[in-house]
Amino acid sequence: MNLAKIKTSYVCQNCGSVSPKWMGRCPECSAWNSFVEEVAEKPSPSGGPVPGKYSPSASPVSLACVKGLETSRFMTGIGELDQVLGGGIVKGSVVLIGGEPGIGKSTVMLQVAGILSEKEKRTLYVSGEESPAQIRLRADRLSVRPEKLELLATTAFEDVLFTLADNKYDYLIIDSIQTMVSSELSSSGGTVGQVRHITYRLVELAKSSGLTVFIVGQVTKDGNIAGPKVLEHLVDTVLYFEGDYSRGVRILRSVKNRFGSTDEVGIFEMSSKGLLEAGNKAFMDLGQEPAAGKVLCPVLEGSRPFIVEIQALAAPTFFQYPKRNATGFDPNRLNMLIAILEKKGGLSLSGADVYLNVAGGLRVNEPAADLAVCAALISSFKDKPIPFDRVFAGEVGLTGEARPAPNMQGRMSEAARFGMKFFCVPVKSDKSESIELVNIKDIGGLMEYLAAAGK
Ligand SMILES: Nc1ncnc2c1ncn2[C@@H]1O[C@H](COP(=O)(O)OP(=O)(O)OP(=O)(O)O)[C@@H](O)[C@H]1O
Ligand SMILES: [Mg+2]
Ligand SMILES: [Zn+2]
Repeated sequence: MNLAKIKTSYVCQNCGSVSPKWMGRCPECSAWNSFVEEVAEKPSPSGGPVPGKYSPSASPVSLACVKGLETSRFMTGIGELDQVLGGGIVKGSVVLIGGEPGIGKSTVMLQVAGILSEKEKRTLYVSGEESPAQIRLRADRLSVRPEKLELLATTAFEDVLFTLADNKYDYLIIDSIQTMVSSELSSSGGTVGQVRHITYRLVELAKSSGLTVFIVGQVTKDGNIAGPKVLEHLVDTVLYFEGDYSRGVRILRSVKNRFGSTDEVGIFEMSSKGLLEAGNKAFMDLGQEPAAGKVLCPVLEGSRPFIVEIQALAAPTFFQYPKRNATGFDPNRLNMLIAILEKKGGLSLSGADVYLNVAGGLRVNEPAADLAVCAALISSFKDKPIPFDRVFAGEVGLTGEARPAPNMQGRMSEAARFGMKFFCVPVKSDKSESIELVNIKDIGGLMEYLAAAGK
């Protein structure tokens, strides 16, 4: 490979202006830190069309003449993963798996690699992060059979291309994209230019050879620079891992999928044997004692209901302005609910610091959690625990009235499955044998109910 010939240039990501050198500030649009290295197109000597940019096949064809792609899928047998992928891995697709450090990306990829190689799919696992010995150790812990799995420990992307050159692999796993360096660019590994260039090359390779590629991407907590975000538009499917380290529960969420819906989530549990499917587990510890400020809420993740624990702390403030803090919940929505409780429930929260947390490291983006958040705030403020045999679900409007949320039936079944006794919602008697419906019609009704339940 003749490296000296490849020309690169720096392109402002804000306005597109091109410079031969990196610059801290764009002279055209004055944006800071906006230059990213890209491989410059080599102009053809004759001044004709740029080679590699034009091909006769670029002429239009009738859609009727195009043969539909057979999306042949491979079921990994890890049900939760297959579901998130929209029914298995699509051959020739490029899947990006993002997540914070230590969340379990390498673990799940090694498990998948193990399954693939056992099913006689030639799989190459490229690791730029760990030594072969470390990977062997993990493979033993996960009971991944080592015989068939092929490992390449390198950070040089050209090594990967060289290994793939004779097309004998079906699957490629890159762990992680930030550690790979292509010598075509002069910038260092992990920069936007590098990760984008390498991903682009991998997509090209997948489309031309039918290779299926998994790319692991590190999500940095601060700012997300050169993280999976800049790659999302290039790949076919984007999955993100989230969850809480201490509890070992992980959610795999699909945020983009060219071959399926993005409504599905996979629920896993991290154990010493790897990521286990945890589809039927609750997201909190049901055995614990109820305490003031803790409320259970059945939320929907995609089309799937499960129960989360919402925790609130409302305590008198020592500051001139009370503190408001929400983890896993929209802070603006929290402020709105506080205002509603103040006005419609007569709760004097203006002199209280309010903290809200969704246990399990989850994010709840549904208005359906309003009623549970209000219940948690009232419970904490009045210092009255709410028994763990009931769940709250419903949206709260500005006038304090409560409204039903989508798929109440699903939420109810989930609550019943965990042996809940009361389903506290803004709906009149839907008949149900297994769980008792409590109709909460507004904030006033919620305050009365909680006051009575605490006795
Ligand atoms: N012996 C063990 N028993 C149980 N869990 C373990 C064990 N060893 C590691 N883990 C879990 O595996 C996690 C690390 O998983 P993994 O290395 O797959 O994460 P990752 O997302 O690839 O991280 P990184 O970004 O650092 O590469 C740890 O946070 C821990 O929860
Ligand atoms: Mg890793
Ligand atoms: Zn610019």
